[in-house]
Amino acid sequence: MRSVNSVRETLQCVALNPPTVTIRLLEGAPAEMRELQRVIEEAPVYAHRITGVPPGRADAQSTYTALPDGKSYADKFVFAISREGEMVGCADLIRGHPDAATALLGLLLVSERHRREGIGSRAYALLEQYIRDWRTCHRVRIGVVRSNAEVIPFWTRLGFEPTGELKPYRYGPVASETVVFQKNLPGTP
Ligand SMILES: CC(C)(COP(=O)(O)OP(=O)(O)OC[C@H]1O[C@@H](n2cnc3c(N)ncnc32)[C@H](O)[C@@H]1OP(=O)(O)O)[C@@H](O)C(=O)NCCC(=O)NCCS
Repeated sequence: MRSVNSVRETLQCVALNPPTVTIRLLEGAPAEMRELQRVIEEAPVYAHRITGVPPGRADAQSTYTALPDGKSYADKFVFAISREGEMVGCADLIRGHPDAATALLGLLLVSERHRREGIGSRAYALLEQYIRDWRTCHRVRIGVVRSNAEVIPFWTRLGFEPTGELKPYRYGPVASETVVFQKNLPGTP
């Protein structure tokens, strides 16, 4: 049986050596799109909450190509999120939407196999740095569909605040509303 000290040392080791999280811009290569589809399929509860059905076979393609009205692909950035080199999530950023000073984080998703390991928050910190490096955006905006409200504490812990904007949301059988949150990025122009 392991001693109390050995268990304590193991726990300290886990706390002191969190897994390395990285983000990488996807370029749409077939192998990347298969990995993107895989991680989306590893988050079926999210798909159910926002579409009412399991992840679809074309979800990677639609995540990779969806653009808000009036934007071009020059302002769209889809990322792989990796843990120790293994892709475990993805993110979708739009630069300058709905106005030039705002970055829209359309999606941040971590595989259900890897939730509550700190991956989402570390990936967000890297995305925020990416946004700061543009030197054009001084706030980040997200929309949380109320049927997925469970994730709101994740965003508020990162410094997001509700703007008060609510927009009707409808997708198939899901009738809900989108709650808009924003985070100002201090120190940006
Ligand atoms: C939201 C999401 C990206 C969070 O990723 P994650 O890697 O599990 O998050 P973290 O481990 O970094 O969580 C950091 C903190 O946020 C809070 N948090 C995260 N998920 C939470 C949840 N489901 N309920 C309540 N608090 C939560 C906790 O305070 C957590 O710290 P703790 O684990 O020490 O308590 C992940 O749940 C996800 O992919 N959800 C499906 C997609 C989605 O809803 N994306 C957001 C769309 S708006």
